[in-house]
Amino acid sequence: MEFKRTNMCGDLRIENVGDSVVLMGWVAKKRNLGSLVFIDLRDKTGITQIVVREDDKDNYEKARSITQEYVLEVKGRVNERESKNPDIATGDIEIIADKINILDKAKTPPIYIKDDDDVSENLRLKYRYLDLRKPSVQRNLKLRSDIVRTMREYMYDNDFTEVETPFLTKPTPEGARDYLVPSRINEGKFYALPQSPQLLKQILMIGSLDRYFQVVKCFRDEDLRANRQPEFTQLDLEMSFSNQDDVIAMNEGLLKELFDKYTDYELKLPIDRMDYSEAMSSYGSDKPDLRYGYKINDISSLFENSDFKVFADNTSDGRSVRAINFKNIADNYSRKQLDKLTDFVKDYGLKGLSYIKYSENMQSSIKKFLTDDIIEGLKDKLDMADGDLILIGADKDKTVLEAMGALRRKVAKDNDLIEKEYALCWVVNFPMFEYSEEEDRYVSQHHPFTMPNEEDIDLLLTEPEKVRTQAYDIVINGDEMGGGSVRINNSDLQEKIFEALKLSDEDIKNKFGFFIEALQYGTPPHAGLAYGLDRLVMLFAKTDNIKDIIAFPKTQSATCPLTEAPSLVDEKALDELNIKLR
Ligand code: AMO
Repeated sequence: MEFKRTNMCGDLRIENVGDSVVLMGWVAKKRNLGSLVFIDLRDKTGITQIVVREDDKDNYEKARSITQEYVLEVKGRVNERESKNPDIATGDIEIIADKINILDKAKTPPIYIKDDDDVSENLRLKYRYLDLRKPSVQRNLKLRSDIVRTMREYMYDNDFTEVETPFLTKPTPEGARDYLVPSRINEGKFYALPQSPQLLKQILMIGSLDRYFQVVKCFRDEDLRANRQPEFTQLDLEMSFSNQDDVIAMNEGLLKELFDKYTDYELKLPIDRMDYSEAMSSYGSDKPDLRYGYKINDISSLFENSDFKVFADNTSDGRSVRAINFKNIADNYSRKQLDKLTDFVKDYGLKGLSYIKYSENMQSSIKKFLTDDIIEGLKDKLDMADGDLILIGADKDKTVLEAMGALRRKVAKDNDLIEKEYALCWVVNFPMFEYSEEEDRYVSQHHPFTMPNEEDIDLLLTEPEKVRTQAYDIVINGDEMGGGSVRINNSDLQEKIFEALKLSDEDIKNKFGFFIEALQYGTPPHAGLAYGLDRLVMLFAKTDNIKDIIAFPKTQSATCPLTEAPSLVDEKALDELNIKLR
């Protein structure tokens, strides 16, 4: 570089006319217009137009040789443009070049560097360094950095200490598979990358750190979705001598600050709390999207004595008939489209879906079973009126609720029924366990260090399915943004939980022995929470693709097209690890 940069490419305005400046950046576009060459020079802040005149022989020849994505330094004078460009911030001015230096050449880029380019995600990720040059990607990464800064400052202001915990560690159960790392020095042994720093942050509380936080990578080998990555980032925190209300209040303060800074929405505190059981029965989900209504209703009692066997048989023993009234959209659905909804719920295990398009000439798949009494009952329970579309399913509670919950989200989305920009709630009183058919035992719904509700402790070994916990999730717009709990601070109770989970003594000792021992040396009551940082950034960046807000994300199949990870390793490396591939 011959000069020192004076300004960024998005800086200069009409007030700067006459200034002598030096800009550096990439060639976004070049046009030869007879006696003039125009270059759009781009950096992370924007674009400035550079003009080179034919009578400026040296620079003119250089400018003509330049192509897209060359890296330049340009010294020149700010000039008022004749024809202004209102679409860009620097559109009133241009730079008349005195000196252009080529800092690096560039091959023709395989993807266009513009936001609305319709190129495959794989190609974008393979050439991520080019993709990163796009304004939207720049904007998202800057936003992410700003959000992390706001979080850190909030945590420091509230006396939290940031502590790093190791990545080469022991498994932490969060419900996914572990990524394992073989140890060369300890033959046959493996580290696990942390699914979260859960146990270590609890040990920090035992170690009297009092308040801990960390912006930390977590690793989970699980099926990927639009809001899941195999490695993702948490804002993880833990507080000693605190209960559920303390953690919730601390986090409401943080959320308020984030919403104030990064949205126009005025977040009202306290945020509503909803019981897990209410979330499941009215919304068919433990992360209810409250931006719209359309609750699920239990209409079993109307069909107890119905001639329609399919419904009548689903009115007892943990089974039910559930309906949603989608107000006023009956006309949006033809027979064919209703068939498609039936196919949709089948993926959730529901065998069928009944409908009523209510009006004087009611159309319904179960019309002959709709007696006057049932119609009156439906009007009463569902506020059914002309033009409404009622969708009804019947099955085991869990199946029908989950399917109707998914249907609720789909119909709301397909018909643009979302009424609010943001809707937040805490979901509380989660069950301690859920039954895993696959493992034929109870497994933890959160993780096994969660404190049961005091009045439920006696049920641990007798009726585990009834035990509720002091766990809480923060749900925003139907997405789980974070979750946490009050922790068990007593080794007897902790062992009892492991017993309820049917873990053998051997297993408990191998997996959690160190932790149970730590609990025995004076453990303060403590509670905490972790946010999915990526998901929060998605929310504020208004994107539903997690890859948009991560610099180097992985594909759906957990690969990185840029580095081609994961890759084969050579025989020698495996030999050193004493590993043989089958
Ligand atoms: P949990 O497992 O609920 O809790 O994780 C906390 C939050 O992390 C986010 N998250 C993810 N984000 C992207 N990709 C993933 N694969 C992924 N998995 C989870 C979610 C989730 O709410 N140790 C506990 C926290 C605690 O109890 O303090 C934990 O990890 O937004």
